[in-house]
Amino acid sequence: MPISNEKIEQMLASIAEMKAAREQEIEEMRVKWLGKKGEITQLFDEFRTIDKEQKKEFGQRLNALKNAATAKIEEMRAALAEIAGPATASFDQTKPGDVFQLGARHPISITREEILSIFGKFGYSVAEGPEIEDDWHVFSALNFPPEHPARDMQDTFFVQPGGDNPILLRTHTSSVQVRTMEKMRPPIRVVCPGRVFRNEAISARAHCIFHQVEGLYIDKGVTFADLKQAILLFAREMFGADSQIRMRPSYFPFTEPSAEVDVSCNICHGKGCNICKGTGWLEILGCGMVDPAVLEASGIDPKVYSGFAFGMGIERIAMLKWQVKDLRHYFENDIRFLRQFETAI
Ligand code: PHE
Repeated sequence: MPISNEKIEQMLASIAEMKAAREQEIEEMRVKWLGKKGEITQLFDEFRTIDKEQKKEFGQRLNALKNAATAKIEEMRAALAEIAGPATASFDQTKPGDVFQLGARHPISITREEILSIFGKFGYSVAEGPEIEDDWHVFSALNFPPEHPARDMQDTFFVQPGGDNPILLRTHTSSVQVRTMEKMRPPIRVVCPGRVFRNEAISARAHCIFHQVEGLYIDKGVTFADLKQAILLFAREMFGADSQIRMRPSYFPFTEPSAEVDVSCNICHGKGCNICKGTGWLEILGCGMVDPAVLEASGIDPKVYSGFAFGMGIERIAMLKWQVKDLRHYFENDIRFLRQFETAI
């Protein structure tokens, strides 16, 4: 029979009259009306084939019919449960409540706290700054020449490109060091944690969002030996008292000389394993003596003051600490991964 107002009225009347004494009867009625081949379901199937004008007329009524059937079935179920009383209730009301499950801190937060607390013990305070930055604080003040590849669209997400001072997402937290140097006079001793953004393809070893802690120490007479000692002490606190470090010459526009630092592999203790790819060493950070041009750009006299800076990726440190092989785990919020750190607090 095609859809008609009369038919809908009839169906509404039969639905309103329905009565049931047992759960099974209610289920049979549900199937009769709303099941896969149920009468209302069939009307909806038919509805798809009728023309536009008719759709307007019947759309709302059909929905009302479906709601009426659903509500009636619910009502009968509730009435039955009430008659049956608490003795047949599906749960034991005297049972103590379930324990509320506490969440766990994210491994990146745990690692960040640990890094900050180590440098806190060395007398560093924490400085933070904006994630949306300008070119000056991310690049120019850090002695990046205008044609430097890191400014290329490849690496940087621009918010407002063009002009003298484009707005962008910071690619490192060295920008916070610049802000600190602009505001504070030496001695300066800060660590800058935060989220950074780079336009990179996502893989097991790279992500377009990650976290860094960078550090800066400026005072009279700071030397490379101080830098080496600070990093060695950090490595020993973080990876174990018998850790060794080695420095390899490197290049950053804002430090001179610059170095990359490896720590002795805390898994095989230098013998060579698959984590350190047989070398016995793991790369942990970049560092160097702050370039005099950088001090000058922030109004600090390089003839009086010198300093060092370093920067590390929190994900990388956490991967080494817990031997996580795929960086993407940190961003996917898979509870099976995150639960493993519940006791790491
Ligand atoms: N800013 C550099 C980076 O993001 C790290 C770094 C910081 C290197 C300070 C040297 C000194 O890769």
